[in-house]
Amino acid sequence: MADNTSSGNNFIDENHEDLLNHLSELSEYDQSEWDPDIFKSKLDSFIHDLESHFSHEELILSGAGFSDLRAHALLHRELALNIHKKNLLSYDPKSAAELVREITAETISHELMSDQEYWDLFNDKPSSSKRLLLWSKDLETGHPEIDKQHIALMNHVNHLYLRTQRNNDYQEAAKELRMLVLYSKYHFQEEEKHIDNKVSTQHKANHRKLLDDLNILIEEVESEKYDLSSLADYFDYWLFNHIRTYDVPK
Ligand SMILES: [Fe+2]
Ligand SMILES: [Fe+2]
Ligand SMILES: [Fe+2]
Ligand SMILES: [Fe+2]
Repeated sequence: MADNTSSGNNFIDENHEDLLNHLSELSEYDQSEWDPDIFKSKLDSFIHDLESHFSHEELILSGAGFSDLRAHALLHRELALNIHKKNLLSYDPKSAAELVREITAETISHELMSDQEYWDLFNDKPSSSKRLLLWSKDLETGHPEIDKQHIALMNHVNHLYLRTQRNNDYQEAAKELRMLVLYSKYHFQEEEKHIDNKVSTQHKANHRKLLDDLNILIEEVESEKYDLSSLADYFDYWLFNHIRTYDVPK
């Protein structure tokens, strides 16, 4: 059993990371040298990778006996179809940037929320005594979708914690923290979009602060500055304190 990745399956996790890297390359495509054909071929290559990943994931999940495979495969088809529909014949830099943003949000949403549904197939269930963060009622915001995203972020933090307890691998921890940055960025954007009129300026500023601080932490983890077990105290503040202070309506 793999013990150093999110889903617990190294191959799937490598795929997920590659897809996000591919998307960030697409978003960094130098628009001063804009060529719609080059952009289109880069996009087609991403779509090809995404569909290959879906095929691999379905094969692995089928072998592992995932009971909701049909429903999950349907989500893959819907996501791919949606992206194909948006794939135009030609692009200008603005519509290309917008498209990459939309595809990134949809891909992250699938990895963050839907792909967690099969984690139990590959991971030992963390016992409550080994969990870093435990969900409690006072963290509920009254928005079921936001709560789902918070729980998914908490699960990521807990898996990171469990892995570091086992192998104390700083580079692996940094890699997982970089995924957490991408997932959190997505969550903050969604939160700001859905509850916009209630999200205060300080709340948004705190989202920026959390991302900035997490990036500093990643550099420190890469240089092996801390004992990784001390991250428990960091994430209690980083995730739960933010939810209690800003996300839960007063
Ligand atoms: Fe996936
Ligand atoms: Fe999936
Ligand atoms: Fe928030
Ligand atoms: Fe939040």
